[in-house]
Amino acid sequence: MSEQLIVPLNLSKQEKYNALIPQVEALVAGEEDVIANLSNIVAALKYGMNWLWIGVYFVKKNKEKNADELVLGPYQGPVACTRIGYGRGVCGAAWKSKEVIIADDVNQFPGHIACSDLSKSEIVLPVFKNGEVVLVLDIDSDEYATFDTTDKMSLNKITTMIESFI
Ligand code: SME
Repeated sequence: MSEQLIVPLNLSKQEKYNALIPQVEALVAGEEDVIANLSNIVAALKYGMNWLWIGVYFVKKNKEKNADELVLGPYQGPVACTRIGYGRGVCGAAWKSKEVIIADDVNQFPGHIACSDLSKSEIVLPVFKNGEVVLVLDIDSDEYATFDTTDKMSLNKITTMIESFI
């Protein structure tokens, strides 16, 4: 696949998602490699939606601590924190609660982990395998209150897509 993504700038947010999601589906169709697919998904969303940061954190075992933690995976944007503990920050809270979390102002979110000073709002969506969270999809915006129900609904289609190959 060598074509550019086609997401015209003058579209509404919902229209951008409508244009982008079938293209993301086509990107991962027929490919089973998890890292390759996640890399393409976050790149497509970064360049289609123009957010500050988008990436995934995998739930992985830390042998020294004998505990699971979130470990950075494929992403696009400024360099980010590598490891996040259970329940810590917005990502750890989404992992613990198994719910989508939207923070309109990250500075008001208890325990928010500031990887970049530019981040103002955030959405984190858990991704499940056999009922357990195996990774979270994390998106940061450099504007306040960027994410709403439209994002939650559309990004749920992306996390369902991830669940099909994870
Ligand atoms: N802000 C996140 C940490 C990850 S970065 O945003 C990439 C959090 O509070 O969990």
